[in-house]
Amino acid sequence: MRKTVNKHSKIKSSNSEKETNSGIRLNKYIADSGFCSRRQADEIIKSGRVKVNNVIETNLARRVQPGDNVQIDSNPIKQSVKLEYILLNKPKDTITTVRDEKHRKTIMDVVKTKFRLFPVGRLDRNTTGVLILTNDGELANRLMHPKYQVERVYLAGLDKPLKFTDAERISKGVTTEDFKSSPCEIFIDPADHSLVYITLKEGKNREVKKIFETFGYKVKKLDRKSFAGITTAGLARGEFRRLTKQEVIHLKKAVKLI
Ligand code: URA
Repeated sequence: MRKTVNKHSKIKSSNSEKETNSGIRLNKYIADSGFCSRRQADEIIKSGRVKVNNVIETNLARRVQPGDNVQIDSNPIKQSVKLEYILLNKPKDTITTVRDEKHRKTIMDVVKTKFRLFPVGRLDRNTTGVLILTNDGELANRLMHPKYQVERVYLAGLDKPLKFTDAERISKGVTTEDFKSSPCEIFIDPADHSLVYITLKEGKNREVKKIFETFGYKVKKLDRKSFAGITTAGLARGEFRRLTKQEVIHLKKAVKLI
């Protein structure tokens, strides 16, 4: 059975390093892998035996990010932290970032966890719905990469009914000010033509709004209904839960990790 974690729950972490969006110290990464102590890691780094993303790193202050490739003597080192996968039903007025300089409410104020999790992609401040957070950098990078064509289904509330001719043009792919969208599926709610489901597969910044703006429509409300088939069914806005093992396997399969 799925366990729902409410807003006030905390997830315990064995990892004592503070949450940060600037990664963790290279020596800690190496120590967490079980290779040696942090102090020994410093010596190994200074001796030039450590590479980050195939470049020798001797800077002891270097921080590594999820997805970075760390090697010692050309052998890959994996930081052994528990991998965590969270599904959030993102509420409005919440910024998709780990830390906000202006102290606005972020998703980390909603998902209270001691894990250093990162959002898989971005939703605008007032966009609601499915947002996955994880510390599995490899999975996150692939889910965000357009190559894997991960489906995102949005329900957009427009400022006026969408004309069928415009829907047809959007479905064939649009050239906006910033990008060219690929062909996509569009479904207009028969009871209210200003409510439109759009399925996109690339994850470009503010893509739904830009697509509709190109045809003179304003997106007044935006809700992500699903991401890679994962929905917020059973989760109220602002609630979150761990993904099930089956859901994690499903995501990994979707991006050819297994
Ligand atoms: N497209 C947008 O315009 N905004 C979002 O938050 C997500 C997709």
